[in-house]
Amino acid sequence: MPRPLIRTALPGPEAQKILELDARFVSPSYARDYPMVAKRGSGMWVEDVDGNTFLDFAAGIAVVATGHCHPEIVRVIQRQAETLIHMSGTDFYYPLLAQLAEKLAAIAPGDFPKRVYFGNSGTEAIEAAMKLARYHTRRHRFIAFLGSFHGRTLGSLSLTASKAVQRNGFGPLLPGVSHVPFPDPYPIAADPGGKGRTCAGVEAIEKLFKTSAPPQEVAAIVVEPILGEGGYVVPPPDFLPELRRLTERHGILLIFDEVQCGMGRTGKMWACEHWATVPDILVTAKGIASGLPLSATIARADIMDWPAGAHASTFGGNPIACAAALETIRLIEEKYMENAGRMGEYLLRNLGDLPEEYDLVGDVRGKGLMIGIELVKDRKTREPHPEARQEVLRRAFEKGLLLLGCGEGTVRLMPPLILEEEHAAFAIEVIRQCLKEVASADGRR
Ligand SMILES: Cc1ncc(COP(=O)(O)O)c(C=O)c1O
Repeated sequence: MPRPLIRTALPGPEAQKILELDARFVSPSYARDYPMVAKRGSGMWVEDVDGNTFLDFAAGIAVVATGHCHPEIVRVIQRQAETLIHMSGTDFYYPLLAQLAEKLAAIAPGDFPKRVYFGNSGTEAIEAAMKLARYHTRRHRFIAFLGSFHGRTLGSLSLTASKAVQRNGFGPLLPGVSHVPFPDPYPIAADPGGKGRTCAGVEAIEKLFKTSAPPQEVAAIVVEPILGEGGYVVPPPDFLPELRRLTERHGILLIFDEVQCGMGRTGKMWACEHWATVPDILVTAKGIASGLPLSATIARADIMDWPAGAHASTFGGNPIACAAALETIRLIEEKYMENAGRMGEYLLRNLGDLPEEYDLVGDVRGKGLMIGIELVKDRKTREPHPEARQEVLRRAFEKGLLLLGCGEGTVRLMPPLILEEEHAAFAIEVIRQCLKEVASADGRR
């Protein structure tokens, strides 16, 4: 395996020029953790504008599922670009749109007919799911979870409850949205007898029904089967099945946001398959087209009953993105989904003992290639340690490993699904080294 190569101080001279340009002209709302200025990517690797090479454990925020510039993906993109770049599925037909819809309907969970709406981003797919849920049920309320991230446009932002800065100054948001805690097994590890807490989220919803959100008015409950941006939290096993039973009792739609955890990342095509729970509407984006902008809102056919003209997008389901998606799904089904499960186990096996080695590490958890390492100031109170997390990200960058954060103090690992053991071994080595340095700078074990 080639090793990362850091040949300049970071950021290097060429990177600095781009950072200056960016600082003058680009929206200051983007929050970058460190100054990585990418020039080209190949497989697991990214080269910056100064010729430094990094191992990529961020995958463009879980987007380049098949790695950077996978040759088969490049081939289908090139071929499609020479054939038809745009037509607009809103006003015309083309084979790829219908073919991809057929494929997604076949692989989405649930043994019933489905229909697919296409957008360009996760947030658009959530907007479509919210509008569809309102239209179909003629109810207006939604229930979502604290810590969840569903996007930043005004509808999806009303569901998002991950970081206050994402909402601050943008209100009033959509009325009728209530949030309840996402059930988090972390305290249960400290209190093994605390079974009652496993379905804390469901109990909180039942309380809402009796107090502020009459179930007859609730259109849908929206949930990430594994919390992404909010901290890579894997819920307790009974959570999704309990939610399914609750929604069925009240005629409420269940929407799974699989924008981050879907498309093979957890070792199954959809994260909800780990709990054998089928939603009414499933939302996917990010990894679906290996880097081209595409999202899909996949619903039971009897629910997607809105009429012509009710909802559409000029660019959604662009032919090049659809071609890339069909090839991405083929590759994920053929080998990368299975690889994600196997490599995820390898990473967890080799990182799982970090909490015993470092007081700084509160928890290591995840499924497949969606793994969180939670850094804490105090393991019992679980006070997060954002400063230590930022320091780990920075040091890893300087050692040639690209990582991102999530939650308040968690490091997230979400490499492309093509990851091999030697890449994983290198990442483990860097992460251990960074933790050692940060812990000793913090005066801790
Ligand atoms: C679970 C989840 N839903 C929705 C979104 C929004 O996706 P996008 O940034 O493509 O709008 C994200 C983005 O991080 C996400 O992780």
